[in-house]
Amino acid sequence: MGHYVVEGGHKISGEFTVHGSKNACLPILAATLLAEDEVVLENCPNISDFNQTIAILERLGCTITQENRTYTIDTSKIDSVEIKEETVQKMRSSILFLGALLGRTKKAILGYPGGCTIGKRPIDLHLNSFEKMGICIEEEDGFLHCSTSHILGYHIYLPYPSVGATENILLLAVKAEGATVIHNAAQEPEIVALAEFLRRCGGEIYGAGTSTIFIEGVTKLHGTNFCFPFDRIEATTLLCASAMTGGDIALAGVEISHMSATLDVFEKIGCIWQQKGNWLTMEPPKQLYSNLTIKTGPFPLFPTDAQPFFASLLTLAEGTCMIIETVFEQRFRHCKELCKMGAQIDINGQRAKIYGNAHLMGTEVYGTDLRGTAALILAGFAAEGTTTIHGAEFVERGYEDITGMFTSLGGQIQLLESCHESK
Ligand code: EPZ
Repeated sequence: MGHYVVEGGHKISGEFTVHGSKNACLPILAATLLAEDEVVLENCPNISDFNQTIAILERLGCTITQENRTYTIDTSKIDSVEIKEETVQKMRSSILFLGALLGRTKKAILGYPGGCTIGKRPIDLHLNSFEKMGICIEEEDGFLHCSTSHILGYHIYLPYPSVGATENILLLAVKAEGATVIHNAAQEPEIVALAEFLRRCGGEIYGAGTSTIFIEGVTKLHGTNFCFPFDRIEATTLLCASAMTGGDIALAGVEISHMSATLDVFEKIGCIWQQKGNWLTMEPPKQLYSNLTIKTGPFPLFPTDAQPFFASLLTLAEGTCMIIETVFEQRFRHCKELCKMGAQIDINGQRAKIYGNAHLMGTEVYGTDLRGTAALILAGFAAEGTTTIHGAEFVERGYEDITGMFTSLGGQIQLLESCHESK
């Protein structure tokens, strides 16, 4: 367990090339099981969720080699269909191995994924869809035992555009007998990336990125090369850090269309951004304004993953802001810690009212999830004095060397080993 020590008062400024996307790479790593020969993945992020997923693939019998950010994965000799419960408990995205293993072997045994601090994280949409597609699912001693003789194409109507459920259905449907249509599908860029990867492997998928995705099942998928797109949430984290400290930042590798909702909010609060070729630049805001409402939702609406960073940022703005969190039921836990730093935030269910013009003071705070802990680091950069942020184990799941990243941009941050458990 580690904690960060952050010295406030230093601008986060300069140039940075955004890493490969955590939420794109995890489903695509699972999807490699569907390719019956070698897959080469480039621009891989060095984060613990990626490395854990690689370890799962190796335990399933894959042969994996790495050269810097390029991984070569050979699944020709997979010899297991079982993923241990504790792995799935720790990393919910392991649920995506269900669709991939069933698509490859028609069998899968997976630990039941737990919830986490941001919400219950049920998987009913995944399992209901799979049962409609001919999968027999039995739950025994905390494990899901899944099998089928035939994967059947089907019209799936999702009551909510779940990212994970859309991804899992794609992983199963690409090898189904007949056609599958996903109605009310998630439209996130990570869905588009997964569909593009599967198409390059020979899958027949149309409409990814819209709310209706058509998949014509095929009997075999081959290997391919694929380069992961940038991490839009890491990019947003960097932009918020720069805006909170009066910095001037330029990000390389950014696809603007993946960030429209957050860029719109940046504009509304006084941040001027520009696209210069492959660079996204943002100059120091003269004044940050709030007096707006931010409501999270499925893409292309404002991303829930960016909500914690804007909560930190808006404590500094002129005015009062309302954040409405519609995706997860417990995603305001970082706000209590921000109040310990001097912020004034009223939480009422799924609504957080943020009073601006706070003078944040460094103190000891405790992160409880990936994005909430990152939001506390951002607050530390804008605070007076020193802030200690516990919860490094959460941050390392989704950010590659966050101390190196921010240090290269002028931030004063170090990672120390904690002698006691996080709260
Ligand atoms: C993905 O989680 C991301 N994780 C999350 O990012 C992100 O916050 C989320 O999508 C929303 O954009 C990865 O891609 C690895 P959902 P996922 O299924 O797939 C409910 C981060 O910080 N639901 O779209 O789990 C669910 O409870 C992480 O990078 C059901 O009710 O999100 C939630 O309220 C955090 N039943 C809502 O849907 C189901 O079967 C959205 O969940 C599935 C989901």
